[in-house]
Amino acid sequence: MDIKDCVAIVTGGNRGIGLGFVTELVKAGAKKVYIGCRSLEDGKAIVATDPEHLVAIALDVTKPEQVAAAAAKCTDVSLVVNNAGAFVNQRLIGAATMDAMRTEMEVNYFGVVSMCRAFAPVLKKNGGGAIVNVLSAGGIVAVPGMGGYSPSKFASRAASTCIRAELAGQGTTVSALIVGSVDTRMAAHIQREKSSPEAIARAGIAAARAGIEEMDTDPHAMEVRAALHRDPRGLADAMAASVR
Ligand SMILES: NC(=O)c1ccc[n+]([C@@H]2O[C@H](COP(=O)([O-])OP(=O)(O)OC[C@H]3O[C@@H](n4cnc5c(N)ncnc54)[C@H](OP(=O)(O)O)[C@@H]3O)[C@@H](O)[C@H]2O)c1
Repeated sequence: MDIKDCVAIVTGGNRGIGLGFVTELVKAGAKKVYIGCRSLEDGKAIVATDPEHLVAIALDVTKPEQVAAAAAKCTDVSLVVNNAGAFVNQRLIGAATMDAMRTEMEVNYFGVVSMCRAFAPVLKKNGGGAIVNVLSAGGIVAVPGMGGYSPSKFASRAASTCIRAELAGQGTTVSALIVGSVDTRMAAHIQREKSSPEAIARAGIAAARAGIEEMDTDPHAMEVRAALHRDPRGLADAMAASVR
């Protein structure tokens, strides 16, 4: 995947890791980046900083008509970054209703699959291209206390594998990013060392460039992966203890 002169779309591109992708893609030479955002006003403010490279597009990944409209409009895309994510911080059993876990599944799983389905023909027309799915260490270790978030990221990781196989024939690569701890609004409640959104974006761009199937993007993700191999029971106990 050649990032120079490519055209990309980033879901949830208005803040956090998504905005990191937007700025790092332009730095890496992307010709155009569509900023997918639920509020166009958010997107327009970012476009004003670099109108030559940026375009804002209304895109709630849980709304099929907006996903379809994005694919119909952004026909020049060769890189799709599925970054939009929801973490509602409720429990599977302890929550009063299943609304929060359904939201997490809708955004983190169905939203990713919906984008891949809509953009697969666009990527094919443009020579194959790449999909980058922003997943989580919570998608390789089930974290008690994260409610529906961990299961949604597990599902999205499995979908990444299936979609990779389905799109291999058209030359589209699918990179799953295992992200640990990043300094964004989603992780504001977490007290530990956090990587910058831009560092995650640079790792994701490197994964797309090389067609890497799964990449741990930051020190926390690497620690989780290592502990998973070394001592899975101890890791599960430690994670359970950390949310009691
Ligand atoms: N921060 C971390 O430590 C961490 C760790 C592991 C994985 N991740 C993953 O990284 C990704 C980005 O998260 P972040 O840390 O940058 O969080 P964030 O700052 O909370 O940003 C979340 C982004 O997703 C967007 N979004 C939420 N629901 C959406 C929907 N239905 N349709 C379109 N966009 C939607 C938000 O838009 P609005 O501004 O409109 O709300 C926002 O742009 C997520 O997939 C998250 O699971 C983050």
